[in-house]
Amino acid sequence: MRIGNNLKLGVNIDHIATLRQARREMDPDPAAAALVCKRAGADMIVAHLRQDRRHIQDSDVFRLCRLKGETHLEIASVPSIISVVMRAKPDSVCLVPENPREVTTSGGLNLKKAPGLARTIKRLKDADIEVSLFIDPDAAGVRAAKSLGVDAVELCTRPYAEAKGKKKVKAELERLELAGYLAYEMGMNLHAGHGLDYHNVQAVARIPHITCLNIGFSIIARAVFAGLKGAVAEMKLLIS
Ligand code: PXP
Repeated sequence: MRIGNNLKLGVNIDHIATLRQARREMDPDPAAAALVCKRAGADMIVAHLRQDRRHIQDSDVFRLCRLKGETHLEIASVPSIISVVMRAKPDSVCLVPENPREVTTSGGLNLKKAPGLARTIKRLKDADIEVSLFIDPDAAGVRAAKSLGVDAVELCTRPYAEAKGKKKVKAELERLELAGYLAYEMGMNLHAGHGLDYHNVQAVARIPHITCLNIGFSIIARAVFAGLKGAVAEMKLLIS
């Protein structure tokens, strides 16, 4: 079913690199995957350069940023990572919390405990890199993001994706909608992502004012059986 919002699809290709790193081989190559994703309808290529370099490597970042089209990096606000970003010059970044023991990003930033964040944001913006903050969908996070002067917020959809039962799912959607409305009213671009898949994505895609969804795991998982091109095209169709 088409829903008519024409959202941008950011395809996170970290897990192409996860597979490569399992053998430390050349293949599968994230830059080659990026080209397939773009041809299949991805509007933006997303990668998370983690401090432990468990999947995406610095060299991937440089290659991805040289490709035609938009490259968006998820990063922690730490000097060693910012220094790579300043040299690679992606179009945009999303600042995320990072914990070496987590399997994946566990939630939004705690903006009350984020020393140095304002300085990082200024540095990135001065370099013409668009900055978003990954936040939990609540008013306090949206207001704090606005006061830090970012261009956009990415609402964490993980609680929605993990909610069990109609009532909880509805409550999580309402949280996303309210936070999204506030972000829009405050003049920030609205993105969302984490845990979205082929079954749960459309309800999020219908939320007013969202302009971009960033999706990784479910697309790469489906690609194992359906091929990357088909997996990206199917997701793009679902949110278009
Ligand atoms: N958005 C952010 C900020 C993330 O950290 C991630 C995970 O890398 C995603 C979106 C994509 O999440 P998933 O892989 O569950 O689709």
